[in-house]
Amino acid sequence: MRDVNKIVEPPEDLHICFGGGNFRAIGNKMIATCKDKLRLKPHEKVLDIGCGIGRLAFPLLEYLDESGGYDGFDTFPVGVNWCAENITPEFPNFNFSLVDIFNTTYNPSGQVKGSEFVFPYEDNSFDLVILNSVFTHMMPDDIIHYISEIKRVLNDGGRIFATFFLINKDSLELMNQGKSVHDFYKFGIFYTADPKDPMDAVGYDDKFVYNIFEKHGFKVQEVMFGNWCGRKSINHQDIVLLTR
Ligand SMILES: C[S@@+](CC[C@H](N)C(=O)[O-])C[C@H]1O[C@@H](n2cnc3c(N)ncnc32)[C@H](O)[C@@H]1O
Repeated sequence: MRDVNKIVEPPEDLHICFGGGNFRAIGNKMIATCKDKLRLKPHEKVLDIGCGIGRLAFPLLEYLDESGGYDGFDTFPVGVNWCAENITPEFPNFNFSLVDIFNTTYNPSGQVKGSEFVFPYEDNSFDLVILNSVFTHMMPDDIIHYISEIKRVLNDGGRIFATFFLINKDSLELMNQGKSVHDFYKFGIFYTADPKDPMDAVGYDDKFVYNIFEKHGFKVQEVMFGNWCGRKSINHQDIVLLTR
């Protein structure tokens, strides 16, 4: 049990469904940030919301020990199924769950609204919650509800790693100069790059994001702005690091 060399990487054609890029390098970089800035330790419990094809689970296979653990859930079957078949038999403390949540891009026939979904975990069960490129695919009511569920399942010293497309004066200016990879259109309190498939890429005013977290008792520890809008950065999306 627990031989990381026995786990093959998911096939290349699956990577593209979850954002593409260098599977190992991106996962390693995000988990390095969790270790360095959010003090993730090998014995801790991690929840990976929108776990995709396990890009962030891979570096954790080598890092978390047997007293630690990982749970991931996602609404797109192909990734969850691959991870459950290929990772869990060797690493029983890594679990992957499929949930049928509606998403215009990833699960247009989903039967459950994100805004009503109760996470299938007990209160106070995790030390760190990760959402890498997930709130960038969600509507405002769904995000507000997810943050209340995150608060419920995180323990007192819990931390959050979450990425966003944060709209503010600088990103708006860069978008106006044509430097952004997304042209966002404003619809009420969210921005989408594609009104026909609104959840394909969703942006939020930065103040809106910080306020919802603060209302739920989280403090913004640091914001690491990404290069999506044309800034210079080694990250693509904006990373928001939070503590309780
Ligand atoms: C761009 S992929 C990122 C996957 C993974 N976090 C990574 O970094 O490789 C976005 C993922 O979010 C999932 N997703 C979208 N809405 C979701 C929701 N409401 N709850 C859970 N997962 C969701 C999608 O199915 C998809 O797997």
